[in-house]
Amino acid sequence: MPNTVVVGTQWGDEGKGKVVDLLTANAQLVVRFQGGANAGHTLVVGGKQFICHLIPSGILHSGKKCAIGNGVVVDPEVLLKEMDALGKAGIGIDPDRLTLSEKAHVIMPYHKAIDQAREALKGKDMIGTTGRGIGPCYEDKVGRMGIRAVDLTEPAIFRRKVEVNLKEKNHYLVNYLGAKPFDLETIVAEYLRMAERLKPYIDDLSNDFERIRRDKGNILFEGAQGTHLDVDHGTYPYVTSSNPVSGTACSGAGVGPHELHHILGIVKAYTTRVGAGPFVTELNDATGEYIQQKGREFGATTGRKRRCGWLDLVAVGDAARLNGLDSLAITKLDVLTGLDTLRICVGYELDGQVINRRPASLDKFGRCLPVYRNLPGWKEDISGARDLGKLPVQTRTYLDAIEEVTGVPLSIVSVGAGREETIVLKDPFGC
Ligand code: GDP
Ligand code: IMO
Ligand code: MG
Repeated sequence: MPNTVVVGTQWGDEGKGKVVDLLTANAQLVVRFQGGANAGHTLVVGGKQFICHLIPSGILHSGKKCAIGNGVVVDPEVLLKEMDALGKAGIGIDPDRLTLSEKAHVIMPYHKAIDQAREALKGKDMIGTTGRGIGPCYEDKVGRMGIRAVDLTEPAIFRRKVEVNLKEKNHYLVNYLGAKPFDLETIVAEYLRMAERLKPYIDDLSNDFERIRRDKGNILFEGAQGTHLDVDHGTYPYVTSSNPVSGTACSGAGVGPHELHHILGIVKAYTTRVGAGPFVTELNDATGEYIQQKGREFGATTGRKRRCGWLDLVAVGDAARLNGLDSLAITKLDVLTGLDTLRICVGYELDGQVINRRPASLDKFGRCLPVYRNLPGWKEDISGARDLGKLPVQTRTYLDAIEEVTGVPLSIVSVGAGREETIVLKDPFGC
Protein backbone atom coordinates (compact mmCIF):
# COMPACT_ATOMS: atom_id res chain seq x y z
CA MET A 1 0.00 0.00 0.00
CA PRO A 2 2.41 2.69 -1.15
CA ASN A 3 0.58 6.03 -1.05
CA THR A 4 1.48 8.79 -3.50
CA VAL A 5 1.26 12.58 -3.21
CA VAL A 6 0.94 14.65 -6.39
CA VAL A 7 2.13 18.26 -6.13
CA GLY A 8 2.79 21.12 -8.55
CA THR A 9 6.41 22.25 -8.72
CA GLN A 10 5.84 25.61 -10.42
CA TRP A 11 3.04 28.21 -10.25
CA GLY A 12 0.10 25.83 -10.77
CA ASP A 13 -1.51 24.36 -13.90
CA GLU A 14 1.32 21.87 -14.39
CA GLY A 15 -1.12 19.12 -15.42
CA LYS A 16 -1.74 17.64 -11.97
CA GLY A 17 -5.31 16.67 -12.91
CA LYS A 18 -4.21 14.62 -15.90
CA VAL A 19 -1.62 12.73 -13.85
CA VAL A 20 -4.02 12.13 -10.94
CA ASP A 21 -6.61 10.76 -13.36
CA LEU A 22 -3.98 8.46 -14.87
CA LEU A 23 -2.68 7.19 -11.51
CA THR A 24 -6.16 6.59 -10.10
CA ALA A 25 -6.18 3.31 -12.04
CA ASN A 26 -3.93 1.94 -9.27
CA ALA A 27 -5.46 3.78 -6.29
CA GLN A 28 -8.51 3.04 -4.17
CA LEU A 29 -8.92 6.49 -2.61
CA VAL A 30 -8.11 9.94 -4.03
CA VAL A 31 -7.99 12.85 -1.56
CA ARG A 32 -7.71 16.61 -2.22
CA PHE A 33 -5.94 18.21 0.74
CA GLN A 34 -5.76 22.01 0.23
CA GLY A 35 -6.95 24.92 -1.89
CA GLY A 36 -10.47 25.35 -3.15
CA ALA A 37 -12.32 26.27 -6.30
CA ASN A 38 -9.37 28.44 -7.32
CA ALA A 39 -8.04 25.17 -8.75
CA GLY A 40 -8.96 24.00 -12.23
CA HIS A 41 -7.80 20.49 -13.03
CA THR A 42 -8.52 19.43 -16.60
CA LEU A 43 -8.99 15.80 -17.58
CA VAL A 44 -9.32 14.54 -21.14
CA VAL A 45 -10.68 11.03 -21.37
CA GLY A 46 -12.05 9.41 -24.52
CA GLY A 47 -11.80 12.78 -26.27
CA LYS A 48 -14.08 14.41 -23.69
CA GLN A 49 -12.91 17.20 -21.39
CA PHE A 50 -13.82 17.54 -17.70
CA ILE A 51 -12.68 20.30 -15.35
CA CYS A 52 -12.55 19.57 -11.62
CA HIS A 53 -12.41 22.53 -9.26
CA LEU A 54 -13.18 20.73 -6.00
CA ILE A 55 -13.92 17.08 -6.70
CA PRO A 56 -10.72 15.02 -6.91
CA SER A 57 -9.49 14.22 -10.41
CA GLY A 58 -9.96 10.48 -9.80
CA ILE A 59 -13.73 10.81 -10.10
CA LEU A 60 -13.91 9.55 -13.71
CA HIS A 61 -12.82 6.07 -12.59
CA SER A 62 -15.95 4.23 -11.52
CA GLY A 63 -15.60 2.29 -8.30
CA LYS A 64 -12.87 4.56 -6.89
CA LYS A 65 -13.57 6.64 -3.80
CA CYS A 66 -12.81 10.37 -3.79
CA ALA A 67 -12.62 12.63 -0.76
CA ILE A 68 -12.34 16.34 -0.07
CA GLY A 69 -10.08 16.79 2.94
CA ASN A 70 -10.34 19.15 5.91
CA GLY A 71 -7.59 21.33 4.40
CA VAL A 72 -9.79 22.31 1.44
CA VAL A 73 -12.04 25.39 1.51
CA VAL A 74 -15.32 24.37 -0.08
CA ASP A 75 -17.76 26.52 -1.98
CA PRO A 76 -21.00 24.47 -1.76
CA GLU A 77 -22.43 26.11 -4.86
CA VAL A 78 -19.40 25.11 -6.96
CA LEU A 79 -19.39 21.61 -5.48
CA LEU A 80 -23.06 21.02 -6.30
CA LYS A 81 -22.63 22.41 -9.83
CA GLU A 82 -19.67 20.10 -10.35
CA MET A 83 -21.65 17.11 -9.08
CA ASP A 84 -24.52 18.02 -11.44
CA ALA A 85 -22.19 18.44 -14.43
CA LEU A 86 -20.62 15.04 -13.78
CA GLY A 87 -24.09 13.53 -13.36
CA LYS A 88 -25.11 14.93 -16.76
CA ALA A 89 -22.00 13.33 -18.27
CA GLY A 90 -23.16 9.96 -16.90
CA ILE A 91 -20.88 9.91 -13.85
CA GLY A 92 -23.24 9.42 -10.97
CA ILE A 93 -22.02 10.87 -7.66
CA ASP A 94 -23.25 9.39 -4.39
CA PRO A 95 -21.79 9.07 -0.88
CA ASP A 96 -20.11 5.78 -1.90
CA ARG A 97 -18.07 7.76 -4.43
CA LEU A 98 -17.46 11.01 -2.55
CA THR A 99 -16.91 12.16 1.03
CA LEU A 100 -16.65 15.77 2.17
CA SER A 101 -14.70 16.12 5.40
CA GLU A 102 -16.89 17.50 8.18
CA LYS A 103 -13.92 19.67 9.19
CA ALA A 104 -13.49 21.37 5.79
CA HIS A 105 -14.17 25.10 5.92
CA VAL A 106 -16.98 26.57 3.85
CA ILE A 107 -16.64 29.53 1.49
CA MET A 108 -19.37 32.06 2.26
CA PRO A 109 -20.70 34.78 -0.09
CA TYR A 110 -18.91 37.45 1.95
CA HIS A 111 -15.55 35.70 1.39
CA LYS A 112 -15.95 36.08 -2.36
CA ALA A 113 -17.18 39.68 -2.04
CA ILE A 114 -14.22 40.61 0.20
CA ASP A 115 -11.73 38.89 -2.14
CA GLN A 116 -13.07 40.77 -5.17
CA ALA A 117 -13.51 44.15 -3.47
CA ARG A 118 -9.98 44.04 -2.01
CA GLU A 119 -8.50 43.30 -5.40
CA ALA A 120 -10.47 46.17 -6.95
CA LEU A 121 -9.22 48.51 -4.22
CA LYS A 122 -5.59 47.46 -4.77
CA GLY A 123 -5.82 48.49 -8.44
CA LYS A 124 -2.47 47.97 -10.19
CA ASP A 125 -1.03 46.32 -7.06
CA MET A 126 -3.58 43.51 -7.16
CA ILE A 127 -2.43 39.93 -6.61
CA GLY A 128 -4.63 38.70 -9.45
CA THR A 129 -6.58 36.24 -7.31
CA THR A 130 -9.23 34.02 -8.81
CA GLY A 131 -11.88 35.93 -6.83
CA ARG A 132 -13.16 32.68 -5.34
CA GLY A 133 -12.92 33.85 -1.72
CA ILE A 134 -9.95 31.61 -0.92
CA GLY A 135 -7.85 34.08 1.12
CA PRO A 136 -10.75 35.46 3.24
CA CYS A 137 -11.99 31.92 4.01
CA TYR A 138 -8.56 30.73 5.21
CA GLU A 139 -8.26 33.95 7.25
CA ASP A 140 -11.48 33.08 9.09
CA LYS A 141 -10.27 29.51 9.62
CA VAL A 142 -7.06 30.67 11.26
CA GLY A 143 -8.96 33.45 13.05
CA ARG A 144 -11.22 30.77 14.58
CA MET A 145 -14.40 32.26 13.17
CA GLY A 146 -14.82 30.01 10.13
CA ILE A 147 -17.88 27.98 9.18
CA ARG A 148 -17.19 24.26 8.73
CA ALA A 149 -19.02 21.60 6.74
CA VAL A 150 -20.23 20.10 10.00
CA ASP A 151 -22.01 23.38 10.75
CA LEU A 152 -24.15 22.81 7.66
CA THR A 153 -25.61 19.78 9.44
CA GLU A 154 -26.54 21.82 12.54
CA PRO A 155 -28.85 24.63 11.35
CA ALA A 156 -29.18 26.53 14.64
CA ILE A 157 -25.41 26.62 15.17
CA PHE A 158 -24.87 27.56 11.53
CA ARG A 159 -27.31 30.46 11.81
CA ARG A 160 -25.72 31.79 14.99
CA LYS A 161 -22.20 31.67 13.54
CA VAL A 162 -23.22 33.45 10.34
CA GLU A 163 -25.07 36.08 12.38
CA VAL A 164 -21.98 36.84 14.49
CA ASN A 165 -19.69 36.87 11.45
CA LEU A 166 -21.96 39.14 9.42
CA LYS A 167 -21.73 41.94 11.98
CA GLU A 168 -17.98 42.17 11.36
CA LYS A 169 -18.05 41.35 7.64
CA ASN A 170 -20.80 43.82 6.75
CA HIS A 171 -19.03 46.58 8.64
CA TYR A 172 -15.79 45.86 6.75
CA LEU A 173 -17.54 45.47 3.39
CA VAL A 174 -19.57 48.67 3.63
CA ASN A 175 -17.30 51.03 5.54
CA TYR A 176 -13.87 49.99 4.33
CA LEU A 177 -14.30 48.26 0.99
CA GLY A 178 -17.28 50.31 -0.21
CA ALA A 179 -19.16 47.12 -1.14
CA LYS A 180 -22.71 45.93 -0.47
CA PRO A 181 -23.72 44.27 2.83
CA PHE A 182 -25.21 40.75 3.05
CA ASP A 183 -28.57 39.77 4.50
CA LEU A 184 -28.50 37.05 7.18
CA GLU A 185 -31.82 35.39 6.27
CA THR A 186 -30.93 35.18 2.57
CA ILE A 187 -27.60 33.48 3.30
CA VAL A 188 -29.09 31.08 5.86
CA ALA A 189 -31.92 30.04 3.52
CA GLU A 190 -29.58 29.55 0.56
CA TYR A 191 -26.94 27.59 2.50
CA LEU A 192 -29.38 25.38 4.38
CA ARG A 193 -31.03 24.51 1.08
CA MET A 194 -27.64 23.43 -0.32
CA ALA A 195 -26.87 21.67 2.98
CA GLU A 196 -29.85 19.35 2.43
CA ARG A 197 -28.15 17.96 -0.67
CA LEU A 198 -24.66 17.89 0.81
CA LYS A 199 -25.48 16.32 4.19
CA PRO A 200 -25.17 12.69 3.07
CA TYR A 201 -21.61 13.37 1.89
CA ILE A 202 -20.37 15.14 5.03
CA ASP A 203 -18.47 12.66 7.16
CA ASP A 204 -15.33 11.87 9.13
CA LEU A 205 -12.60 11.04 6.57
CA SER A 206 -10.85 8.73 8.97
CA ASN A 207 -13.54 6.14 8.18
CA ASP A 208 -12.31 6.04 4.58
CA PHE A 209 -8.66 5.87 5.68
CA GLU A 210 -9.42 3.00 8.09
CA ARG A 211 -11.12 0.99 5.34
CA ILE A 212 -8.26 1.53 2.86
CA ARG A 213 -5.64 0.57 5.47
CA ARG A 214 -7.58 -2.59 6.32
CA ASP A 215 -7.86 -3.52 2.61
CA LYS A 216 -4.18 -2.61 2.03
CA GLY A 217 -5.25 -0.20 -0.71
CA ASN A 218 -3.35 2.72 -2.26
CA ILE A 219 -4.16 6.34 -1.48
CA LEU A 220 -3.49 9.15 -3.93
CA PHE A 221 -3.22 12.63 -2.42
CA GLU A 222 -4.03 15.37 -4.92
CA GLY A 223 -2.44 18.77 -4.45
CA ALA A 224 -3.74 21.97 -6.00
CA GLN A 225 -1.83 25.09 -7.09
CA GLY A 226 1.96 24.79 -7.00
CA THR A 227 4.99 25.09 -4.73
CA HIS A 228 5.75 28.70 -5.72
CA LEU A 229 2.17 29.73 -4.88
CA ASP A 230 2.63 28.33 -1.35
CA VAL A 231 1.79 30.93 1.31
CA ASP A 232 5.05 30.12 3.18
CA HIS A 233 7.44 29.03 0.44
CA GLY A 234 6.08 30.84 -2.62
CA THR A 235 6.63 34.26 -4.15
CA TYR A 236 4.89 36.00 -1.24
CA PRO A 237 2.62 37.98 -1.37
CA TYR A 238 1.87 36.81 -4.94
CA VAL A 239 0.72 33.43 -3.67
CA THR A 240 -2.43 31.61 -2.69
CA SER A 241 -3.52 31.31 0.95
CA SER A 242 -2.77 27.61 1.54
CA ASN A 243 0.29 25.35 1.52
CA PRO A 244 0.40 23.33 -1.72
CA VAL A 245 3.60 21.53 -0.62
CA SER A 246 3.53 17.78 0.02
CA GLY A 247 3.66 17.97 3.83
CA THR A 248 0.17 19.46 3.80
CA ALA A 249 -1.19 16.10 2.69
CA CYS A 250 -0.83 15.11 6.37
CA SER A 251 -2.58 18.05 7.98
CA GLY A 252 -5.03 18.63 5.14
CA ALA A 253 -6.28 15.04 4.99
CA GLY A 254 -5.59 13.72 8.48
CA VAL A 255 -2.80 11.13 8.14
CA GLY A 256 0.71 10.84 9.56
CA PRO A 257 3.94 11.52 7.61
CA HIS A 258 4.83 7.81 7.53
CA GLU A 259 1.78 7.28 5.31
CA LEU A 260 3.24 9.33 2.45
CA HIS A 261 5.43 6.96 0.49
CA HIS A 262 6.10 8.59 -2.88
CA ILE A 263 6.10 12.32 -3.59
CA LEU A 264 5.54 13.02 -7.27
CA GLY A 265 6.29 16.51 -8.56
CA ILE A 266 4.52 17.63 -11.71
CA VAL A 267 6.69 19.78 -13.99
CA LYS A 268 5.32 21.48 -17.08
CA ALA A 269 8.00 21.40 -19.80
CA TYR A 270 7.97 25.22 -19.73
CA THR A 271 6.72 27.71 -17.13
CA THR A 272 3.36 29.46 -16.84
CA ARG A 273 1.83 31.79 -14.33
CA VAL A 274 -1.62 33.36 -13.95
CA GLY A 275 -1.94 36.51 -11.91
CA ALA A 276 0.72 39.02 -10.91
CA GLY A 277 4.26 38.60 -9.52
CA PRO A 278 7.83 38.39 -10.84
CA PHE A 279 8.58 35.74 -13.47
CA VAL A 280 12.28 35.37 -14.33
CA THR A 281 11.95 33.30 -17.52
CA GLU A 282 8.86 35.07 -18.88
CA LEU A 283 8.79 35.44 -22.67
CA ASN A 284 7.05 38.60 -23.85
CA ASP A 285 7.78 37.79 -27.48
CA ALA A 286 6.72 35.58 -30.37
CA THR A 287 8.04 32.43 -28.65
CA GLY A 288 5.93 33.16 -25.55
CA GLU A 289 2.94 33.72 -27.83
CA TYR A 290 3.67 30.44 -29.66
CA ILE A 291 3.75 28.48 -26.38
CA GLN A 292 0.62 30.24 -25.07
CA GLN A 293 -1.33 29.41 -28.25
CA LYS A 294 0.01 25.90 -28.80
CA GLY A 295 -0.32 24.98 -25.13
CA ARG A 296 -3.77 26.58 -24.97
CA GLU A 297 -2.61 28.39 -21.88
CA PHE A 298 -5.84 29.89 -20.65
CA GLY A 299 -6.86 29.56 -16.98
CA ALA A 300 -9.30 26.69 -16.40
CA THR A 301 -10.99 28.68 -13.60
CA THR A 302 -10.97 32.28 -14.79
CA GLY A 303 -10.28 31.97 -18.53
CA ARG A 304 -7.36 34.42 -18.15
CA LYS A 305 -4.38 34.14 -20.52
CA ARG A 306 -1.51 32.44 -18.72
CA ARG A 307 1.88 34.16 -18.88
CA CYS A 308 4.44 31.81 -20.50
CA GLY A 309 8.22 31.38 -20.32
CA TRP A 310 11.09 28.90 -20.52
CA LEU A 311 11.43 26.07 -18.03
CA ASP A 312 12.83 27.47 -14.78
CA LEU A 313 14.81 24.66 -13.16
CA VAL A 314 15.85 26.86 -10.24
CA ALA A 315 12.17 26.91 -9.30
CA VAL A 316 11.82 23.15 -9.86
CA GLY A 317 14.99 22.53 -7.82
CA ASP A 318 13.53 24.53 -4.93
CA ALA A 319 10.34 22.47 -5.25
CA ALA A 320 12.37 19.24 -5.14
CA ARG A 321 13.78 20.23 -1.74
CA LEU A 322 10.61 21.75 -0.29
CA ASN A 323 8.48 18.73 -1.17
CA GLY A 324 11.08 15.95 -0.85
CA LEU A 325 10.34 14.85 -4.40
CA ASP A 326 10.93 11.18 -5.22
CA SER A 327 10.24 11.54 -8.93
CA LEU A 328 9.05 13.98 -11.59
CA ALA A 329 6.27 13.83 -14.16
CA ILE A 330 7.07 16.05 -17.15
CA THR A 331 3.94 17.33 -18.90
CA LYS A 332 3.14 19.16 -22.13
CA LEU A 333 6.41 18.18 -23.77
CA ASP A 334 4.54 18.06 -27.11
CA VAL A 335 3.90 21.81 -26.88
CA LEU A 336 7.62 22.52 -27.42
CA THR A 337 7.64 20.63 -30.74
CA GLY A 338 8.59 22.89 -33.63
CA LEU A 339 10.84 25.34 -31.78
CA ASP A 340 14.40 25.52 -33.18
CA THR A 341 16.19 26.11 -29.88
CA LEU A 342 14.96 25.44 -26.36
CA ARG A 343 16.27 27.14 -23.25
CA ILE A 344 16.28 25.90 -19.68
CA CYS A 345 17.09 28.21 -16.79
CA VAL A 346 19.80 26.62 -14.65
CA GLY A 347 20.64 29.57 -12.39
CA TYR A 348 19.71 33.15 -11.53
CA GLU A 349 22.09 36.04 -11.88
CA LEU A 350 21.58 38.46 -9.01
CA ASP A 351 23.74 41.59 -8.83
CA GLY A 352 26.53 39.89 -10.80
CA GLN A 353 26.50 36.63 -8.83
CA VAL A 354 24.98 33.32 -9.97
CA ILE A 355 22.68 31.67 -7.42
CA ASN A 356 20.65 28.48 -7.64
CA ARG A 357 17.85 29.19 -5.14
CA ARG A 358 15.03 31.70 -5.38
CA PRO A 359 15.66 34.53 -2.89
CA ALA A 360 12.85 35.15 -0.37
CA SER A 361 13.03 38.90 -0.97
CA LEU A 362 10.58 39.77 -3.74
CA ASP A 363 12.72 42.77 -4.62
CA LYS A 364 15.78 40.57 -5.14
CA PHE A 365 13.74 37.99 -7.03
CA GLY A 366 12.46 40.77 -9.28
CA ARG A 367 16.09 41.64 -10.11
CA CYS A 368 17.14 38.06 -10.94
CA LEU A 369 18.12 37.39 -14.53
CA PRO A 370 17.94 33.91 -16.03
CA VAL A 371 21.11 31.94 -16.73
CA TYR A 372 20.18 29.73 -19.65
CA ARG A 373 21.48 26.54 -21.17
CA ASN A 374 20.49 26.21 -24.84
CA LEU A 375 19.31 22.86 -26.15
CA PRO A 376 18.33 21.79 -29.67
CA GLY A 377 14.64 21.57 -30.51
CA TRP A 378 12.81 18.88 -32.52
CA LYS A 379 10.23 18.97 -35.32
CA GLU A 380 8.68 15.48 -35.13
CA ASP A 381 5.20 14.89 -33.68
CA ILE A 382 5.84 13.13 -30.36
CA SER A 383 2.24 12.69 -29.20
CA GLY A 384 2.14 9.05 -30.37
CA ALA A 385 5.22 8.00 -28.37
CA ARG A 386 4.55 5.48 -25.61
CA ASP A 387 8.17 4.76 -24.70
CA LEU A 388 11.30 6.90 -24.52
CA GLY A 389 12.87 5.07 -27.45
CA LYS A 390 10.21 6.56 -29.75
CA LEU A 391 11.23 10.12 -28.90
CA PRO A 392 13.68 12.09 -31.09
CA VAL A 393 17.18 12.28 -29.65
CA GLN A 394 16.79 16.03 -28.97
CA THR A 395 13.65 15.37 -26.88
CA ARG A 396 15.56 12.83 -24.82
CA THR A 397 18.40 15.32 -24.38
CA TYR A 398 15.87 17.82 -22.99
CA LEU A 399 14.51 15.23 -20.54
CA ASP A 400 18.02 14.16 -19.51
CA ALA A 401 18.91 17.78 -18.77
CA ILE A 402 15.91 18.14 -16.44
CA GLU A 403 16.95 15.01 -14.57
CA GLU A 404 20.58 16.12 -14.39
CA VAL A 405 19.93 19.67 -13.17
CA THR A 406 17.27 18.74 -10.59
CA GLY A 407 18.84 15.46 -9.49
CA VAL A 408 15.37 13.88 -9.39
CA PRO A 409 14.50 10.87 -11.62
CA LEU A 410 11.63 11.04 -14.10
CA SER A 411 8.73 8.61 -13.68
CA ILE A 412 6.19 9.94 -16.18
CA VAL A 413 6.36 11.91 -19.44
CA SER A 414 3.16 13.35 -20.84
CA VAL A 415 2.98 14.01 -24.58
CA GLY A 416 -0.66 15.04 -24.94
CA ALA A 417 -3.74 15.98 -22.92
CA GLY A 418 -5.40 12.55 -23.30
CA ARG A 419 -5.09 9.94 -20.57
CA GLU A 420 -3.33 7.53 -22.95
CA GLU A 421 -0.88 10.13 -24.31
CA THR A 422 1.64 9.23 -21.65
CA ILE A 423 4.95 7.45 -21.22
CA VAL A 424 5.12 5.72 -17.84
CA LEU A 425 8.72 4.95 -16.86
CA LYS A 426 7.98 3.89 -13.31
CA ASP A 427 4.60 3.64 -11.60
CA PRO A 428 4.82 5.59 -8.30
CA PHE A 429 2.57 2.91 -6.71
CA GLY A 430 5.01 0.28 -7.86
CA CYS A 431 2.21 -1.62 -9.63
P1 GDP B 1 -3.60 21.41 -13.28
O1 GDP B 1 -4.29 22.58 -12.66
O2 GDP B 1 -2.22 21.22 -12.76
O3 GDP B 1 -4.42 20.16 -13.20
O4 GDP B 1 -3.43 21.78 -14.81
P2 GDP B 1 -4.58 22.40 -15.76
O5 GDP B 1 -5.58 21.35 -16.03
O6 GDP B 1 -5.05 23.70 -15.22
O7 GDP B 1 -3.72 22.77 -17.05
C1 GDP B 1 -3.08 21.81 -17.80
C2 GDP B 1 -3.68 21.81 -19.22
O8 GDP B 1 -2.83 21.10 -20.09
C3 GDP B 1 -5.02 21.12 -19.31
O9 GDP B 1 -5.78 21.73 -20.32
C4 GDP B 1 -4.66 19.69 -19.72
O10 GDP B 1 -5.70 19.04 -20.44
C5 GDP B 1 -3.48 19.94 -20.61
N1 GDP B 1 -2.46 18.90 -20.62
C6 GDP B 1 -2.01 18.11 -19.60
N2 GDP B 1 -0.96 17.36 -19.99
C7 GDP B 1 -0.75 17.68 -21.30
C8 GDP B 1 0.25 17.27 -22.26
O11 GDP B 1 1.13 16.47 -22.00
N3 GDP B 1 0.17 17.86 -23.50
C9 GDP B 1 -0.78 18.78 -23.83
N4 GDP B 1 -0.77 19.30 -25.04
N5 GDP B 1 -1.72 19.19 -22.93
C10 GDP B 1 -1.68 18.66 -21.70
P1 IMO C 1 -4.38 24.74 -10.05
O1 IMO C 1 -4.72 23.78 -8.96
C1 IMO C 1 -2.64 28.56 -11.22
C2 IMO C 1 -3.13 31.88 -8.42
C3 IMO C 1 -4.03 33.04 -8.85
C4 IMO C 1 -3.31 34.18 -8.16
C5 IMO C 1 -2.87 33.56 -6.84
C6 IMO C 1 -3.83 33.83 -5.67
O2 IMO C 1 -5.33 24.69 -11.20
O3 IMO C 1 -2.95 24.60 -10.45
P2 IMO C 1 -6.21 32.84 -5.03
O4 IMO C 1 -7.53 32.89 -5.77
O5 IMO C 1 -5.74 31.46 -4.76
O6 IMO C 1 -6.21 33.70 -3.81
O7 IMO C 1 -5.15 33.53 -6.05
O8 IMO C 1 -2.80 32.16 -7.06
N1 IMO C 1 -3.77 30.55 -8.46
C7 IMO C 1 -3.51 29.63 -9.40
N2 IMO C 1 -2.71 29.69 -10.49
N3 IMO C 1 -3.29 27.42 -10.91
C8 IMO C 1 -4.07 27.34 -9.81
O9 IMO C 1 -4.62 26.18 -9.40
C9 IMO C 1 -4.23 28.49 -9.00
N4 IMO C 1 -4.93 28.76 -7.88
C10 IMO C 1 -4.62 30.02 -7.55
O10 IMO C 1 -4.04 33.18 -10.24
O11 IMO C 1 -2.16 34.53 -8.86
MG1 MG D 1 -5.22 24.35 -13.21
